[in-house]
Amino acid sequence: MNKLSQKTWIILGVAALVIVIASSVMARKTSSDSFCISCHAYEKVSWDHSDHPDVGCISCHTKGTITDKTKGLRKVYLTLSGQVNPHNDKLPSYKEAITDNCVGCHMTEEILESRPVFKERHEEYRKYAVGCVECHEPGHVKKMREQRNVPTRWSL
Ligand code: HEC
Ligand code: HEC
Ligand code: HEC
Ligand code: HEC
Repeated sequence: MNKLSQKTWIILGVAALVIVIASSVMARKTSSDSFCISCHAYEKVSWDHSDHPDVGCISCHTKGTITDKTKGLRKVYLTLSGQVNPHNDKLPSYKEAITDNCVGCHMTEEILESRPVFKERHEEYRKYAVGCVECHEPGHVKKMREQRNVPTRWSL
């Protein structure tokens, strides 16, 4: 009896380990640019030509890992079940989260301290606009991004 329960524990332990490793691999794979691009090809082109070709998709489009993965599962479901075509349909957006991410990279304490003029001007700018994207076109060249909504010849 004792032996059996020891064996059970080992099996459970190994199973848990496999699950942890598998989900961390999955989490990494589903955070890669190539994964995003498989559904968002137009955004790749507009991103390649933007100010941020070296910044990964997930750095700007994150609300934290757990929310990202839950939303991600829903997106895979919507795509596979044919309810949303990410290449052609208009997609929702979340400007507040995007602005938080911009601030996280561009307005750290160090930057603000070492660049008083930048800090001062942006305090003034931000009285007139809620989000950074109201003035900047950072992640994507807008003209290219809009091509996504032009119907393709096979979607008539
Ligand atoms: C399986 C296809 C698929 C993959 C892979 C995918 N998306 Fe999406 N994406 C969608 C769909 C479908 C929507 C629309 C969701 C809706 O209507 O609620 C969407 C919406 C979005 C939006 C609009 C705002 C939002 O959150 O709804 C952003 C930004 C986005 N995706 C970025 C990404 C990034 C970054 C990645 C890679 C980590 C990624 N997507 C991977 C299908 C996908
Ligand atoms: C992961 C960090 C990161 C995030 C998130 C990010 N950026 Fe950047 N940004 C960079 C890097 C790196 C550059 C490349 C230029 C450089 O070396 O300063 C850059 C360049 C820029 C530039 C051009 C600067 C110049 O000197 O011409 C602007 C403007 C800018 N970002 C605004 C934004 C805005 C607005 C957002 C949010 C939508 C954003 N960034 C999100 C890291 C980031
Ligand atoms: C009302 C418009 C406006 C808003 C809102 C705004 N900016 Fe700017 N930003 C500018 C202008 C104009 C410049 C160029 C002149 C300057 O540096 O003041 C600039 C310059 C920049 C630069 C480049 C600075 C450099 O010289 O390297 C970065 C990075 C930047 N902004 C980030 C941001 C971020 C992040 C946000 C959101 C928190 C934001 N901006 C919101 C108008 C705006
Ligand atoms: C520097 C930040 C940044 C990077 C890097 C970035 N994006 Fe974006 N993305 C944005 C901003 C800002 C918007 C516009 C949000 C808005 O206006 O609602 C946006 C919009 C989108 C949308 C919504 C489509 C639409 O028309 O509004 C999708 C999908 C998207 N990005 C996918 C991606 C993918 C895939 C990558 C990587 C290949 C990527 N983004 C890289 C900042 C970024």
